[in-house]
Amino acid sequence: MDADSRIAAVEEVPEDGSLLFTVREGFDTSEAILVALADGVVAFENYCPHWTDVRLDKGSGATVREDELVCEKHGATFERDSGSCTFGPCEGAVLETVDITVADGDIYLTDDRYEFENKGPSGDHDLSSGGRIGFSGQ
Ligand code: FES
Repeated sequence: MDADSRIAAVEEVPEDGSLLFTVREGFDTSEAILVALADGVVAFENYCPHWTDVRLDKGSGATVREDELVCEKHGATFERDSGSCTFGPCEGAVLETVDITVADGDIYLTDDRYEFENKGPSGDHDLSSGGRIGFSGQ
């Protein structure tokens, strides 16, 4: 397994929440989340199918309630293992999965679309979320 594609150790993924990481596709970066299951780990892209500019994990872990992921915006709930929306405005939609592989207690990104960039949020996202300093410097 390629060390550059190692995301985290399995034990780093919280049971109640998610672990945020950033992937790269060419010049673009986007975010994904690792979610712990009873028998492993799964990864999804970090956006809600209802409004795709809404992140499930805003940097401190997605909300997990009764074994489902919750979108805080309008309360949609998603099965933790399949990503299927069971309730809410996008009921029936499914979170986009990201391919990962677990080997020797570590999680590796094995999705052909992406390269692993970093643990935590995407820098691109921070620039577009209001943290930017104006060009005038004011
Ligand atoms: S944006 Fe997620 S439920 Fe509406």
